[in-house]
Amino acid sequence: MKTAITELFGIEHPIIQGGMHYVGFAELAAAVSNAGGLGVITGLTQRTPELLAKEIARCRDMTDKPFGVNLTFLPTLSDPPYPEYISAIKEGGVKAVETAGRSPEQYMPALKAAGIKVIHKCTSVRHLKAEKIGCDAVSVDGFECGGHPGEDDIPNMILLPRAADELKIPFVASGGMADARSLVAALSMGAAGMNMGTRFIATKEAPVHENVKQALLKATELDTVLVMRALRNTERVLKNKGVEELIEIEREKGGSLKIDDILDQVAGVYPKVMVDGKMDAGAWSCGMVVGLINDIPTVKELIDRIMSDAESIIRQRLTGFLDGTGRSAAPARAIA
Ligand SMILES: Cc1cc2nc3c(=O)[nH]c(=O)nc-3n(C[C@H](O)[C@H](O)[C@H](O)COP(=O)(O)O)c2cc1C
Repeated sequence: MKTAITELFGIEHPIIQGGMHYVGFAELAAAVSNAGGLGVITGLTQRTPELLAKEIARCRDMTDKPFGVNLTFLPTLSDPPYPEYISAIKEGGVKAVETAGRSPEQYMPALKAAGIKVIHKCTSVRHLKAEKIGCDAVSVDGFECGGHPGEDDIPNMILLPRAADELKIPFVASGGMADARSLVAALSMGAAGMNMGTRFIATKEAPVHENVKQALLKATELDTVLVMRALRNTERVLKNKGVEELIEIEREKGGSLKIDDILDQVAGVYPKVMVDGKMDAGAWSCGMVVGLINDIPTVKELIDRIMSDAESIIRQRLTGFLDGTGRSAAPARAIA
């Protein structure tokens, strides 16, 4: 399949793996890129620019296909050394960066000078300054998404067509994307591909504790919850004992909640969950799409399945409606 996104990043399939803290290591990024998508290393999971340079080199050893790096500009007390992270990306020869959180505007000259294509993640069309500041593409992250959906709560059924109306640069649909049905729906609404986070955690190559994958298999679409709304840093996470404590504190504190009140439930949680498999440790991002995850394939099996099912949906189901042969077609089911 060829779209503006496959052309932009020089990839075979219009599927991107979003940056994921303590998940987006070289193993997963390389697996996604080797399967024809765009794998993404999560920059800030590497504690220093030197460690990121090593991770990029490790990924380069595992794939000769293009891959990217995620740079998240989240509200932190002290900014990580972003210019040095950008130098590591540039020197590592990486040509794609996924930015997220605050606007990447101040770093655009450095990224563009290095010939890097920038895809910025936005959760609202109000934030679609990305085009004006020179981003090459946008990842439109709907309310369903795992991670930080912003504060507007607009799901992709509305957000994607709105983005299509506002943008000239290509965009991918992010949040709630799991299979061929997601991809074809996203393409129909104007996107040129899709970005998946949660779905990629439930793959053989995702370098996380087996407990995490089993938790994703078990959970349904009812098992995520929003936290930290009072801090205007809303995050969609998987429910667990730590998150229940967090919600209890949020209930008690109401509008006066401070980050210090919930540090035990939000700080340093990722290594406990992803490395040690302690599933009740606290808040970790997970999308509603968890309700559509029923197996743990290899990344290649997942991507091949999405692409071949997408072809069937387009050629048979949708064309069938046009030529009249599809009138009694059953709903498009995921192939497990
Ligand atoms: C465990 C996890 C960690 C994440 N960490 C980050 C991150 O560090 N930076 C970022 O920009 N997005 C992060 N995200 C968001 C993803 O890149 C992506 O936008 C989101 O997962 C898409 O929604 P989905 O989970 O429904 O596919 C994370 C998502 C998950 C599930």
